[in-house]
Amino acid sequence: MEKKSYTRNEFIRTAGAAMGGAMLASPLISYAKKKQANKTRIALVGTGVRGVSMYGRNLLRDYGDYVEMVGICDINPGRLRYASEFIGAGCPTYTDFDQMLNEQQPETLIVTTEDSVHHKQIIRGMELGCNIISEKPITIDEYKAQAILDAEKKYGKQVIVTFNYRYPPYRAKIKELIMNGMIGDVTSVDFHWNITHSHLMRYMQRWHGERNRGGTLWVHKSTHHFDMVNWFIDSEPLQVQAYGTLERFGRSGPFRGRNCRNCNFTDRCKYHWDITQNDHMRRLYVENEHYDGYIRDNCVFREQIDAYDKHAALVKYANGAFLNYSLTADTEHEGYWLAFDGTEGRLEVRSGGWPEKDHADVVFMPNRRYSGENERVIQIERVSGGHWGGDPIMNDKLFKDPDMPDPLGQQAGTRDGVMSILIGIAARKSVETGKAVDIEGLTELKPMAKRPKV
Ligand SMILES: NC(=O)c1ccc[n+]([C@@H]2O[C@H](COP(=O)([O-])OP(=O)(O)OC[C@H]3O[C@@H](n4cnc5c(N)ncnc54)[C@H](O)[C@@H]3O)[C@@H](O)[C@H]2O)c1
Repeated sequence: MEKKSYTRNEFIRTAGAAMGGAMLASPLISYAKKKQANKTRIALVGTGVRGVSMYGRNLLRDYGDYVEMVGICDINPGRLRYASEFIGAGCPTYTDFDQMLNEQQPETLIVTTEDSVHHKQIIRGMELGCNIISEKPITIDEYKAQAILDAEKKYGKQVIVTFNYRYPPYRAKIKELIMNGMIGDVTSVDFHWNITHSHLMRYMQRWHGERNRGGTLWVHKSTHHFDMVNWFIDSEPLQVQAYGTLERFGRSGPFRGRNCRNCNFTDRCKYHWDITQNDHMRRLYVENEHYDGYIRDNCVFREQIDAYDKHAALVKYANGAFLNYSLTADTEHEGYWLAFDGTEGRLEVRSGGWPEKDHADVVFMPNRRYSGENERVIQIERVSGGHWGGDPIMNDKLFKDPDMPDPLGQQAGTRDGVMSILIGIAARKSVETGKAVDIEGLTELKPMAKRPKV
């Protein structure tokens, strides 16, 4: 008799599918389960640009041998119809989230809804038996974060947060160098990230400009950056002091209209964008506005924008390190500068803003007085793929081989997801009050000098 050895995940998938088939009454569903028993049963909620591409069409194109899309859900029925056609999964679609989970019993739920509602699908998804893959930010405030922490404990399911910024190979190399002690103990970090006006415009046109929906860029965008620092230096934040202001968009703008496409100031506005010229965007958003009033090309000068476009923060870490951070979105330069000072030396890297090379230069400056070593440049080849080549690597681990070793601890769970947004939430509070804000007390999590393993 042929012996088959299973990896842990294959075993879980096979056993889970067999049990699910036995429990379900519908012969159609049990047939579908049997037919694709070796694939992870995945459902997707939130069919905006992110959902339909990275976790929809691209997922099936690149990982169709490993995953089966069993259900797609969105509250907007028109967008859902188009999404289904675009993704091409041929699976059932749902505007009722519970119905999808109850009928399809996916093993994994991918959450790509608007940031402010992630917690709802994460919590209910776990309650109905799914492990969760959630887009960042895990959520936008401390109460929702605590609710997710409680639910994870209660339902015993796993949440993975897709911090794809950890995966570009040159960032992995930086992590490895720091982890292996090249610069000793990290004592301070300088991290300055710039995005251009045209990049910021794309946030301000949407819910990202409204804090009750995107948590401000302190959370929506900086969650990536704060997570990178937490991960690089392997510690958790203690306290945040921050400044933020909105200088260009929202109320600061010179005029305003309802949205770009029918605005009276089209000729004068530097940020005019005709969404109807983009077939995909028109079909995904414009043609479905009448269902839910979701406008994709809102005026960037609308009064209700209450996010910031200039951000600066100081973060004190539990291991004693300081982070000097800025997110400058009121600029024409895109890129970042990142430097670590440690007891044995300094590492510096910068990206973007000048002709990009086919490799990243990481500059190592040893504390020569002690080591006698010379300064040197470590070249790390850039690779293709979304987000500096990070997306395919992250997705291989998520979908192709979940048992793939993870020596750098790149896969992030709930604690990492929450710790990164807590810095942004504390920064938001600090901007509002003018005071330094402690991380401890925002949720039950107590910051640790060394990050606990996921
Ligand atoms: N990691 C990255 O680099 C990266 C890049 C882009 C977007 N994202 C994240 O992906 C997520 C989606 O971004 P997007 O640009 O596609 O946003 P989007 O607004 O275009 O799409 C969100 C979708 O969620 C749906 N939705 C809202 N509430 C819902 C609910 N209660 N139930 C079901 N569906 C609901 C909306 O109708 C919409 O179709 C966001 O969390 C964003 O932060 C991450």
